[in-house]
Amino acid sequence: MTQIELRGVQKFFGAVQVIKDLNLTIADNEFIVLLGQSGCGKTTTLRAIAGLETIDEGDILIDGEPVQHLKAAHRDIAMVFQSFSLYPHMSVYENIAFPLRATRKSKAEIDGEVRSVAKVLQIGNLLDKKPSALSGGDMQRVAIGRALVRRPKAMLMDEPIGALDAKLREEMRAEIKRLHVKQGSTTIYVTHDQIEAMSLADRIVIMHEGVLQQVGSPSDVYTRPANLFVAQFVGSPVMNVANAAVAMNGSGARVTVDGAAEGFRFPAELVGQLDAAKAQQGRLALGIRPEGVLVSKAAADGYLPVEAHIIEPLGSYDIVDLKVGGQMLRARTRSGFVGKPGDQVFARLDPAQAHFFDTASGNSLGVRL
Ligand SMILES: Nc1ncnc2c1ncn2[C@@H]1O[C@H](COP(=O)(O)OP(=O)(O)O)[C@@H](O)[C@H]1O
Ligand SMILES: [Mg+2]
Repeated sequence: MTQIELRGVQKFFGAVQVIKDLNLTIADNEFIVLLGQSGCGKTTTLRAIAGLETIDEGDILIDGEPVQHLKAAHRDIAMVFQSFSLYPHMSVYENIAFPLRATRKSKAEIDGEVRSVAKVLQIGNLLDKKPSALSGGDMQRVAIGRALVRRPKAMLMDEPIGALDAKLREEMRAEIKRLHVKQGSTTIYVTHDQIEAMSLADRIVIMHEGVLQQVGSPSDVYTRPANLFVAQFVGSPVMNVANAAVAMNGSGARVTVDGAAEGFRFPAELVGQLDAAKAQQGRLALGIRPEGVLVSKAAADGYLPVEAHIIEPLGSYDIVDLKVGGQMLRARTRSGFVGKPGDQVFARLDPAQAHFFDTASGNSLGVRL
């Protein structure tokens, strides 16, 4: 049982504040991913939890007990870094056994635990090797094994697979997930890679410039981004965002992207929901992911004529830039669906996949259609 809680955590380096009033509760056994651009404060947050960095204000609690005055060694938390810090002169076996040597465990107990961890990580056949003889992926498995072997209260991982090549990263990602399911421990995993975050996390914590932006399940942050930063940070290709005007038109609403002659048809509730959210015309942005831009080759009810620009074939689908007014909206289509740049096609927006933001605050207006 390990619950970790951050309450009002503030951290300065000199005059620069790198963690700004961070509040977060991590449940027992939860896999949390801290996601954000380089420099947003992820490593500092992790080091503060581990006890490798002091904090200037706030509390860090483990199972309800404040620990910010405790040294790292007394917090019983293991950390795995991007650069594998194995002892080069020791065998894989000794590297994994090392944290247990300082305990009162017998040789036989240590042997059992090393072999059991090695088995889970599928490195049982490497125990006699020296780190220099291992591949990058195996080195990182050993580093994870060494962290796991003492059954810490929590595992903290700082971009643990960031240095590996793409194929190996994918493999290790699946392995880390499998390990978590099997072994179960409260885990905080840091990455700047949103795909890694989506695939691993129970909940993702998105940070920007030291400020927590949103906490939620992968599907929450994808389908209900709290603000423009999250909307454009999560998801690939990125969400289309365009300034837009909304007006009633007959029995429905119209959403007109800046510079466009015609608007897209939306359900009338949109206007009511925007009013309820105190949205202001003139500072409204429409957000829609490429899969929410629907394309037809023939004119159809509710579709507007648009011109195709760049077409990016991505194998299983294409991303097509469509010129709408002064803006480009990127649509996801079946591969080869739009013939060539310059073709006229027709587009509509799926209201259920549309987001509306206040451009002044960047916050979502919470529209759900
Ligand atoms: N020891 C330090 N002294 C001064 N500034 C630091 C130190 N460590 C990190 N920083 C600064 O704090 C900010 C957050 O860094 P970090 O937590 O490493 O970000 P991330 O892990 O998200 O890339 C960055 O601007 C970084 O330059
Ligand atoms: Mg970092």
